[in-house]
Amino acid sequence: MIILGLESSCDDTAAAVLVDGQLKSSVISSQLEHVAWGGVVPEIASRAHLRMIVPVVEQALREAGVSRFHLDAVAVTYGPGLAGALHVGVSFGKTFAAALGIPVYGVNHLEGHLYSVFLENPAPPFPFLCLLVSGGHTELIAVKGPFRHTRLGGTRDDAAGEAFDKVGKMLGLPYPAGPHIDRLAAQGNPKAFAFPRTHLDAFQFSFSGIKTALRYFLEEHGEAFAQAHLADICASFQAAVVDMLVRGVRQALTHTEFAHLAVTGGVSANVGLRKALAAVCAMEDVALYVPSPRYCTDNAAMVAMVGHFLIREKRASDLTLCASPQIPFTSPA
Ligand code: KG4
Ligand code: ZN
Repeated sequence: MIILGLESSCDDTAAAVLVDGQLKSSVISSQLEHVAWGGVVPEIASRAHLRMIVPVVEQALREAGVSRFHLDAVAVTYGPGLAGALHVGVSFGKTFAAALGIPVYGVNHLEGHLYSVFLENPAPPFPFLCLLVSGGHTELIAVKGPFRHTRLGGTRDDAAGEAFDKVGKMLGLPYPAGPHIDRLAAQGNPKAFAFPRTHLDAFQFSFSGIKTALRYFLEEHGEAFAQAHLADICASFQAAVVDMLVRGVRQALTHTEFAHLAVTGGVSANVGLRKALAAVCAMEDVALYVPSPRYCTDNAAMVAMVGHFLIREKRASDLTLCASPQIPFTSPA
């Protein structure tokens, strides 16, 4: 079974080839056009996807050593994400599948992140708990079986990645700021500044408080101080975000008794978060599954993997498949 995965929900144009559940290629073209704007500009993203989708697909097929005529299915992200960006992947995916006479599978981007752990060996057995932390989402999910997952809780306001990006912008770091803060934090003292932690019950998170605290802190101390203490500020901010995430995970592990924890989404690439969760899991006797950093951030390998599961469940889409910018992260349960 040879699946072509496609991802174009935000600012990465990506294609991947999965053969019988084994990844053969994963190509990602990250749009650098947005750096100058300090965030993703939807119209620029759509145009860049249009320019890149064919060369990216051609490269993924070439690297996998697969002709397009050997493909059995196309799996494409149809939401959530930026409308115009999604339209490019969905239109291309449907047309490509129709021209080749093969089925197309619409993939929820959040399920993509969730299933990214199946790209690794070992993959978690069902059931497991998943912390999904990305630029748009911070969710705790109980995963009972394929496409049987329920949301236990999540953020009430900003996503964790959004907090990294907004604070990074205040610090003058390029977009997306998460990886820059991560790198600088490694050189700083996480106890240098005591930024507030918001602890809520019922598996809820909130990151707007720490973002505001950073804004006041920077206004009070000024630009020169911030630049002179950049590594310590990054380390202290990251420690606060990691503490909040870890507390929510511990709460969920205690209440649910899951023996397996998966951590996915762009922020799961964060070195501080990976270390802290490894320590918690060792203490709680829980097995931890985190994808390699290249499968944490947006990619098409995870989309192809969802396609692999959808094929088993015989859940093909038809050619009315549409980009759905706002679909929730739900399942029949
Ligand atoms: O999953 P992703 O690529 O896209 C979304 O679906 O949102 O996540 C992107 C987010 C951005 O907010 C980015 O700053 C953050 O993940 N991120 C990180 C790291 N790498 C990416 N945040 C903290 N530490 C990192 N190493
Ligand atoms: Zn994503």
